[in-house]
Amino acid sequence: MNILGIETSCDETGVAVYAEPGGLLAHRLHSQVAMHREHGGVVPELASRDHVQRLVPLIRETVSEAGLGLPDLTAIAYTAGPGLIGALLVGATLARSLAWALGIPAIPIHHMEAHLLAPMLEPDPPEFPFLALLVSGGHTMLVQVESLGQYRILGESLDDAAGEAFDKTAKLLGLGYPGGPAVERLAAEGEAGRFTFPRPMTDRPGLDFSFSGLKTYCANTVRDHGKEPGAPAAIARAFSEAVVDTFIIKCRRALKETGLRTLVVAGGVSANRQLRAGLDALAKTQGARVYYPQPAFCTDNGAMIAYAGYLRHRAGERAPLDFAARPRWSLEEIGLTAGA
Ligand code: KG4
Ligand code: ZN
Repeated sequence: MNILGIETSCDETGVAVYAEPGGLLAHRLHSQVAMHREHGGVVPELASRDHVQRLVPLIRETVSEAGLGLPDLTAIAYTAGPGLIGALLVGATLARSLAWALGIPAIPIHHMEAHLLAPMLEPDPPEFPFLALLVSGGHTMLVQVESLGQYRILGESLDDAAGEAFDKTAKLLGLGYPGGPAVERLAAEGEAGRFTFPRPMTDRPGLDFSFSGLKTYCANTVRDHGKEPGAPAAIARAFSEAVVDTFIIKCRRALKETGLRTLVVAGGVSANRQLRAGLDALAKTQGARVYYPQPAFCTDNGAMIAYAGYLRHRAGERAPLDFAARPRWSLEEIGLTAGA
């Protein structure tokens, strides 16, 4: 079985081949970060056009690096949503046309499902069931994962996603785009205890999140103290600590409520070392184990799409021909259409 995976939901063109036997045979990524940087964020139309230019050569290179030709492919998995509609349509159209021409199935993949399965690509993978903390640029949620396709959202952000909060804080601190890695680096140099940010929604029951207030708090702190020596790093540190603490509190609660002892953390923000240190420490006190993707597979990539496609194809998934792309799509709706 050789599954080609295609990711084009936002600003990365990702392509990979996952095989059985053999595992991940090849994966390639073209990042549009440099192109969007001058605009301070992702410009949807530029993203779609760049996917159009990059995708075909990237597929050729990846399939050849895997030691295969197009006729060796068993199925083509692609990100069908959620994401930017134009960007999604580029991947969906190419994946479906190529699959039709080759006479093989095309498998639509939910982008957040692929993120939460990404730690399974590692040598010592987590096993179902588990609790997943998904922290990306567009989504923040806690999900109870029973098995492939069986997802219950326990809590999610009511406003900004965690990655979005990092990006906005970076902008306020003049760090540019994307903000997460830059805030992480600056926070590591920040003085402890100089500023304290609130831990949003931790003083009431429930597992939902809210990060938009942190942005306002950050803007006010920058306005009042931003020019003082060492302030930007101390602000980055206070912001990171607030986000990390919030996740620790909510994950502890969710582990307790579900009785689960396996925590999976995925999505762009799961690359953050301060977050990892905090969740590792939490897991120790809870007798739980925590799993992350390798750093390259925390942010968007084709490997996680190929892998999700592999699991779904193996489970007998047969997607209807009319399924193209869905910019809005809940994880709880997807299920598994085995043999349909
Ligand atoms: O999962 P992802 O690549 O795309 C979406 O599906 O949204 O996540 C991108 C987000 C961006 O907001 C970026 O700033 C954030 O992940 N991010 C980080 C780090 N690396 C990426 N946030 C905090 N620390 C990091 N090291
Ligand atoms: Zn993503």
